[in-house]
Amino acid sequence: MKYGHFDDDAKEYVITRPDTPRPWSNYLGSTEYGAIITNHAGGYSFYKSAATGRFLRMRFNSVPLDQPGRYFYLRDQESGDFWSASWQPVAKPLDEYQSVCRHGTAYTQIESTYSGIRTEALYFVPLGQTFEYWRLRVTNQSGRARRISVFTYCEFANLWHTYQDLVNLQYSLFITRATLEDGILGVTCNPNYDFDGKDLTGCNRTWMALTGAPLAGVETVRERFLGSYGGYRAPEVVVRGRCSNFLAEGDNVVGGQQADLALAPGETRELIVLLGLGTVGTHGRKTVAEFGGPDRCAAEFARLRAAWHAPLESLHVKTPDPDLDHMVNVWNAYNALITYAWSRSASLIYNGERDGLGFRDTVQDILGAIPLLREGVKPRLELMLTGQLANGGAIPVIKPFSHRPGHEAPPPDEEYRSDDCLWFFNTVPAYVAETGDLEFYRKVLPYADSGEATVFDHLRRALEFNLERTGRNGLPCGLSADWNDCIKLGYRGESVFVSFQVRYGLDVYAGIADRLGRGTDATWARVELGKLDANIQKVCWDGEWFIWAIGQDGTVYGTKNFSEGQVYMNTQVWAVISGAATPAQAEQALRTMKETCATPYGVMLCAPPFIKANPDVMKATLFNAGIKENAGIFSHTQSWAVIAECLVGDGDQAHDYYRAFMPSAHNDRAEVRQVEPYVHCQTTYSRYNINEGAARTPWLSGTASWAYYSATQWMLGVRPEIDGLRIDPCIPKAWPGFSMRRRFRGKTVHITVTNPAGVNTGVKSLTVDGEELAGNVVPAGKLKDGSRIVAVLG
Ligand code: GLC
Repeated sequence: MKYGHFDDDAKEYVITRPDTPRPWSNYLGSTEYGAIITNHAGGYSFYKSAATGRFLRMRFNSVPLDQPGRYFYLRDQESGDFWSASWQPVAKPLDEYQSVCRHGTAYTQIESTYSGIRTEALYFVPLGQTFEYWRLRVTNQSGRARRISVFTYCEFANLWHTYQDLVNLQYSLFITRATLEDGILGVTCNPNYDFDGKDLTGCNRTWMALTGAPLAGVETVRERFLGSYGGYRAPEVVVRGRCSNFLAEGDNVVGGQQADLALAPGETRELIVLLGLGTVGTHGRKTVAEFGGPDRCAAEFARLRAAWHAPLESLHVKTPDPDLDHMVNVWNAYNALITYAWSRSASLIYNGERDGLGFRDTVQDILGAIPLLREGVKPRLELMLTGQLANGGAIPVIKPFSHRPGHEAPPPDEEYRSDDCLWFFNTVPAYVAETGDLEFYRKVLPYADSGEATVFDHLRRALEFNLERTGRNGLPCGLSADWNDCIKLGYRGESVFVSFQVRYGLDVYAGIADRLGRGTDATWARVELGKLDANIQKVCWDGEWFIWAIGQDGTVYGTKNFSEGQVYMNTQVWAVISGAATPAQAEQALRTMKETCATPYGVMLCAPPFIKANPDVMKATLFNAGIKENAGIFSHTQSWAVIAECLVGDGDQAHDYYRAFMPSAHNDRAEVRQVEPYVHCQTTYSRYNINEGAARTPWLSGTASWAYYSATQWMLGVRPEIDGLRIDPCIPKAWPGFSMRRRFRGKTVHITVTNPAGVNTGVKSLTVDGEELAGNVVPAGKLKDGSRIVAVLG
């Protein structure tokens, strides 16, 4: 079933059937003023933190998943019939109610037609502001004069705090108040508490205004708006057609405002709702005066779109796979930027409880943002480097608003993860390659707890952290977790995944050391790498695949003799990515993985699932079979399989693996995947579960970043390096070629790849602006703005 389509020119996903399998969401605003919205106008808003800055309420995990939100109710004052400007919450029958939702870059527009009245509701947060716009255009298409009343509705979260609002009712219901000053609603918690208007953090003050028509009334208490036994579907005020103008002094405060419109045939009216932070006096009145008019609203919308479109224009492709183009040109890039911004904190699933930046997640999220933001990621990358401790390990979660490098306490020993700082070996070189800023390696940055070092030495400490914590077989220990949160190997159990990461890191580090003229460091790394390789070859190869881990009691996971989790995807693909596998092992390991783990929805993280394994070590046992780390399809890891296949030169397999987990490839069967077909998700049920094919936890996942990186830099193979752009595609044999437009070091370059011989990989000839080049790297010095690179495969 198809519920919508991609509009790449507008950079929108257009939902044409509102009864999507689940509410399909989008993001508004920025990390200052953040908001979630769905195709039903459900969602919530928050200042800085979804947990401790929540001021618009949405109740999580209800049915539907997204209520309440930012509603416009419409009522025909003659017939008494009423509906909403989004299909939900009134949910008129779909044979009478037409609706299209356009999710765009940080805005959502919902267009509906019912009983001869067309509405267009546009939601966005203007750039750099602390208020949101809801703009409603109402057009009378019925051919007769109509009297239509419009009612706004949203609920304010008490105390700007998600837990307090949900749990501490004996307190939070007695501190709320609504006021009306100059027609602007003021909503306050702790109204007797002074507020100077300066710091909005936790200020507990919100205002709401309506322009474009006189305010006909307000309703500010939830039960008075909805009725004590009513609901969002048929609110009492809308049924009655009139607000009571009661101003709340306690209980739940809501944003009910009424406007009465008399519409001639063909007439359009525009109402603008502004909802923002601070009081009417400190912020509301000024904001309405400055931003309340239709021209300003339209100008702010144009500015917002341009600002979001600019980074997405950094890289544009045209390939024979239009689904891939939708993702790379718009949605995967946007998904990567949103994940970079919000980490794992705010969505319909994450309700803010994961406040802060998970170390490993954020370092990987940066990888996806680098080609889009370039130098713009530097502060975040430096923040993460200063989250590294002097011992080389990391603080598991970094709090960006309170992090104090040099003053943070190290975590207790049992909380260190083994992989955290190893992700720097993917992200830091990618940053340097994109920007050409080799000096970054020499920049001195503090450690989280004490001391400071160059970025290069931070990398050294990261490797030493793991090399100093090895087990009986000379492999790095798994500590509280490696990438896989569900394996706890402690200080004696060894992680094969991290062994490969360290191998990769040593290799990358040696290359950087060569580049910086640090011969002794390069030699050190190569000696360590040789030792590690010998240990890997001694204990990690099981004959047909690489093992998973060795527990502290000697239990070997991911081996022929252990029937659960026998083949583990990550160690097969990372054996290839790290260069640890011999060519024969690489080929065999990838074949085994394909035979045992590949499915039409992606490669299962392992197979078969865990049922009996000890959950003290293998926490995956706690999950149902066929989801998440227990033989589910983990989206995050899929790109590693794609990269591994590119490394062995199989562009057909790489593309097959890519399409299996690519959301847009499932657009026409969206009822199977269920979640948004335009963004990645964390995990998909595999064949070991009754829900096979259903995807869960959309938007915020390391998948976004790796999918963008693997498509653009490995399949399409346009890879920045310090010296220039390497052109090394690995594509399906049937592709005649593709083209890419890319920003690189301040220039826009056009790359055309042709494939006359129908091969997967291998550049036969390369020219830049007509000049023939040897090899497949275009030196940065030869690139001009508008340069044309032509590569012929063969
Ligand atoms: C989740 C976590 C991530 C972890 C992964 C595998 O996606 O956010 O940090 O690596 O699960 O356990």
